[in-house]
Amino acid sequence: MPETTRHLLDIDGLADDELETLINRACELAAGATARRLDASAANLFFEPSTRTRVSFELAAARVGMQPINIEMSQASTIKGESLEDTVATLAAMGIDCLVLRHADIGLHARLASALPAGVHLVNAGEGSRAHPSQALLDAATLRARGIATSGLKLAIVGDVRHSRVAASGLQLWQRLGVEEVRLAGPADLLPPGPPATGVVHCASLEEAVGGVDVIMMLRIQHERMDRATWPDSAAYHKEWGLKSEHLAAAAAGCVVMHPGPINRGVEIAAEVADGDRSLILEQVRMGVFTRMAIFEWLFGALGRGEEGER
Ligand code: CP
Repeated sequence: MPETTRHLLDIDGLADDELETLINRACELAAGATARRLDASAANLFFEPSTRTRVSFELAAARVGMQPINIEMSQASTIKGESLEDTVATLAAMGIDCLVLRHADIGLHARLASALPAGVHLVNAGEGSRAHPSQALLDAATLRARGIATSGLKLAIVGDVRHSRVAASGLQLWQRLGVEEVRLAGPADLLPPGPPATGVVHCASLEEAVGGVDVIMMLRIQHERMDRATWPDSAAYHKEWGLKSEHLAAAAAGCVVMHPGPINRGVEIAAEVADGDRSLILEQVRMGVFTRMAIFEWLFGALGRGEEGER
């Protein structure tokens, strides 16, 4: 047990060596390294829909020997008026060792983590539009596992950047990994407000965004974070902002396409691109399990411990 209980709240909370440890360990596990065995339990608390993150945290927990517990939030006692603080304290009192939380409220994860008893860990599995750190880590691990170096890379993030926690965590991560240029593109009201940060370029068109880039990361429109009246028309959106085969010809040779999912075919991405040989979309999903195994190993202080504890 580490002296301080570790939580994964956001990318900024990880030191450079921790980022490297997590990404490298995910790649090792993907290449067949033996997982550490952790005698612990992890409860999934998802207050927003999820397929990839929820299932991969469950699989990852099982693969490192942990006991995964899925709590159906629509059937939980929060429905009867229990506060989330009391729910979390109740689970900790039962001996749950780790809480994997997805929730729309920004700041909630850090607040709950600070109130947890020592030895109970919290993982941010999605926090409103602010953070999705395990997704950013798995995206980096996906590139590294493919032998694509992030140093000197040009990367375009296209779509609803403003409401995307994937983009927010990616923006905390990519430059720390040496990415040379991050281009953000999408309709003006779906780009972050204000001037771009250093090393980040806002592009007015998809064509401008993808020219010469090594990685194109497409994002879905986060309808759940918008008023219905402001939803873009899907067909018009696809025409202007949907990634199609013709765009790949303008990118760098060997450019790869990423998307955190869920994808909306015919909206932000054409089916032939999603299913094409440049697409890493399912590879991202696969790497998500290994990355989350690495996260559990790191949380419980099991990385760098040598062979003991391995199964
Ligand atoms: N990428 C991602 O978070 O997908 P889910 O919403 O399915 O977990």
